[in-house]
Amino acid sequence: MDEIPLSAPWIGEREEELVREVLRSGRLSLGPMVDRFEQALAERVGASCVAAVSSGTAGLHLAVRLADLHAGDEVITTPFSFAASANCLLYEGAVAVFVDVDSATLNLDIAAVEAAVTDRTKAILAVDIFGYPAELDDLSGIAERHGLSLLEDACQALGAEYRGRPIGSFDHPAVFAFYPNKQMTTGEGGAVALSSEDDWALLKSLSNQGRSDSGEWLTHAHLGYNYRLDDVSAAIGLAQLERLDAILELRAEVAARYAKLLAPIDGVELPLSDDGDHARSWFVYVVRLADEIDRNGVMAHLAEEGVASKPYLPSIHLQPYWRERFGTLEGMYPVAERASRQSLALPFHTRLTAGEQERVADTLGRALAVGES
Ligand SMILES: Cc1ncc(COP(=O)(O)O)c(C=O)c1O
Repeated sequence: MDEIPLSAPWIGEREEELVREVLRSGRLSLGPMVDRFEQALAERVGASCVAAVSSGTAGLHLAVRLADLHAGDEVITTPFSFAASANCLLYEGAVAVFVDVDSATLNLDIAAVEAAVTDRTKAILAVDIFGYPAELDDLSGIAERHGLSLLEDACQALGAEYRGRPIGSFDHPAVFAFYPNKQMTTGEGGAVALSSEDDWALLKSLSNQGRSDSGEWLTHAHLGYNYRLDDVSAAIGLAQLERLDAILELRAEVAARYAKLLAPIDGVELPLSDDGDHARSWFVYVVRLADEIDRNGVMAHLAEEGVASKPYLPSIHLQPYWRERFGTLEGMYPVAERASRQSLALPFHTRLTAGEQERVADTLGRALAVGES
């Protein structure tokens, strides 16, 4: 029986056409395709400008650089995220101050954020986990009151909306990622949505070895990096962007079908539904298993029957690197830890078929029944 993978990109003829255009142009890097991609993305997310970069992690690093953090500056962030969203703070010598998450949204708990602000706090780094928007108004209120920068890791949330506005259209930098498991892909790649042209120019310079805009190839005005997105990747991204709305619609349909199929299964909690303030962009389909269920046993059963799954995702403070360097321990962020113990990502992508979803649901139902006996 064929394996049902966790994720899969959807690449079509338009991607091939635009990639061919780049290959024939001979402008494989720093060419016009990157500009076209940046403009199209800015338009789609309602940002003043967008800087394309080589990965979400690179985008996060540069967004942190823009916040002008110094060694020892504290940044409040969530432990329930992918490692890169906190690692980017360490790159600049900042201190990641984790606070626990809200048990429903799994995003930053606002009261915990407020309580964690100290004299050393310089920024808040919010994550829209699983594509569900963080409480941006509350967070920007706290940031304003205390004179902090607000950064948004929207790597999982392209296409999501908060209070009717697209993620990426707010005043603070928002970072997107385009690895092939994301809503849309560039292969490797990322982007930072910005509200200021000056920030955009600085970020572009930092991503291009700190070159000044004098046009001098060997003049470096800043400590820069090579975080450039190349034009072949941008071509794939532009083709994907052209049908992003269709992609998002299909993903929402896949999610709705899962909700119907999985609702009757005891011990499986479905992802939080949208409300008037939050419109999720479907990146992954993560269910929460009841506490007493042996998740490893369920995953082994799924694997035996050709259904991929992942314990998605582990809390950052319990990663070996963080434990070793900072002495972080179990029990520090109980809501995040509980979510990490229970969460299970099921196969999810734009073109997952109804038949495949039925197979996933049946297999999961049987895996849970075996676990009970
Ligand atoms: C929340 C979050 N932040 C950052 C990243 C890093 O993105 P990239 O893999 O493009 O570096 C990811 C990637 O999955 C992510 O999910």
